[in-house]
Amino acid sequence: KKISIIGVPMDLGQNRRGVDMGPSAIRYAGVMETLEALNFQIEDLGDIKISRPSRGAEQLQDNLRNLSQVAEGNELLAEQVDEAITAGRFPLVLGGDHSIAIGSLAGIAKHYENLGVIWYDAHGDLNTADTSPSGNIHGMPLAVNLGLGHERLTNILGYQPKIKPENIVLIGARSLDEGEKELIRETGIKVYTMHEVDRMGMSAVITEVTDYLKDRTDGVHLSLDLDGLDPGDAPGVGTPVIGGLSYRESHLAMEMLAETDMVTSAEFVEVNPILDEKNKTAVIAVGLMGSLFGEKLK
Ligand code: ARG
Ligand code: MN
Ligand code: MN
Ligand code: MN
Repeated sequence: KKISIIGVPMDLGQNRRGVDMGPSAIRYAGVMETLEALNFQIEDLGDIKISRPSRGAEQLQDNLRNLSQVAEGNELLAEQVDEAITAGRFPLVLGGDHSIAIGSLAGIAKHYENLGVIWYDAHGDLNTADTSPSGNIHGMPLAVNLGLGHERLTNILGYQPKIKPENIVLIGARSLDEGEKELIRETGIKVYTMHEVDRMGMSAVITEVTDYLKDRTDGVHLSLDLDGLDPGDAPGVGTPVIGGLSYRESHLAMEMLAETDMVTSAEFVEVNPILDEKNKTAVIAVGLMGSLFGEKLK
């Protein structure tokens, strides 16, 4: 497997500064070294250029904060991801806030009939401008990828929707807004909240998820928001929610995904070094990448 690392220093999808430094924090935590030690051929494509609104000019237009900068950054990201896949490489995207899943999936999904998505997150990120309590686009990317939301976001690379609700699985959800719950009920998106993880155990959850996705998808994208983990383990995130997935459950999940070899692209998002404790969250992210790429198997 050849891996292309793409950094996305995006912090405009939410309110807390610092998450734009996520890609550097993850690089300093040793992502290249970890993956090279597993004998992958890695290329680091560097960071996508994110244009910033001029100071004081951040706009909340139609309940969409920084819409044009978020859309532009995601257009650039979509093109890079698309190129990586066309070149036969595995795109590994480093965030940046979760709004970057708009660009990643735009670039990835066009290569698949039925792309599966594992959304490992405390949140559903299924809001639209109409349901969002915050206007933050990082709470909207999964809805955007279903074709719901502003055209500027849903139509990146000129097609939509990117994914189908029946190919999506949420793991670790514990903070869902009313509109998101409604959308989940309407569309039948599969959700393993913390309740299911506690009852079934992570091992049974991942077995069920991979069995489910195996028959219906021709590729699987892992979108891992570090706030899916418990903030005790991963404190460097902008929207922490207590009662999350543990470090061990998360490694187990990654290791089981490695065993199935189903994951065809991935992103690790929401690492915010300013809110972190000595880069702990970036180090955890890199550890999870190691497990996802088969550390245990090698
Ligand atoms: N649901 C909340 C919102 O829409 C929080 C979203 C948090 N998303 C994230 N990617 N951390 O604002
Ligand atoms: Mn989240
Ligand atoms: Mn998220
Ligand atoms: Mn491990």
